[in-house]
Amino acid sequence: MNYLDALKKRYSVKKFDAEKSVSSEVLHHILEAAQLSASSLGLQPYNILIIETPEMKEKLIPAFYNPSQISTCSHLIAIVSKKGIGADYLGKYFSYISETREIPLDELNPFKNSISKHMGSLSEEEMLNWSQKQSYIVLGNLMFAAALEEVDTCPMEGFKQELIDEILAINTEKEKVSVTLAIGYRSQDDEFQNLKKVRKPNDKLFKFI
Ligand SMILES: Cc1cc2nc3c(=O)[nH]c(=O)nc-3n(C[C@H](O)[C@H](O)[C@H](O)COP(=O)(O)O)c2cc1C
Repeated sequence: MNYLDALKKRYSVKKFDAEKSVSSEVLHHILEAAQLSASSLGLQPYNILIIETPEMKEKLIPAFYNPSQISTCSHLIAIVSKKGIGADYLGKYFSYISETREIPLDELNPFKNSISKHMGSLSEEEMLNWSQKQSYIVLGNLMFAAALEEVDTCPMEGFKQELIDEILAINTEKEKVSVTLAIGYRSQDDEFQNLKKVRKPNDKLFKFI
């Protein structure tokens, strides 16, 4: 599907058709868009959980303020952001670059040291803020890829932080759920699909300078 048509067709689904699931093949194509996402310094400071069992979706219902999507979606994707980047994580990342690109680790040291210095200069709050921004790039790519695959979605951050982290057994000293994405196929009786898009007109949104 043409990408603009896909973006026009997509909307934030409130109710999915609970009888329809996204096939494993299509799901993996969509997830590849997450894997290929760009991230600041390439650090990918997140993990991605794919919740597929009815039991786990059921457990998560109380964690959402408006859970109609959770009870009807095919899969729920949770993007879990790292709260910090430690020496160990950085070391593994650089070993992986060295292995993948066949560059001696020593040659990467100046880059590694500058990243380490930069990370060390951030407060906890700045670090989390930086990390969470990367998660939203993944979210955007997932939504776009899903739309092109004609899979419907609803991005959701209307959840109770402590509860969702607890249910998903997140190690909250090191990470937290930033945002979730329900995916599936729209229910024909979800009235939201008939609403016109409310968007700023181009002259309010864009300024050419
Ligand atoms: C980061 C983010 C979080 C959102 N959280 C929720 C949510 O918790 N529940 C919900 O029903 N919609 C949620 N939305 C959907 C927005 O309300 C929706 O994208 C916006 O109103 C534009 O409508 P459209 O997506 O249907 O075009 C979220 C959207 C974004 C981008």
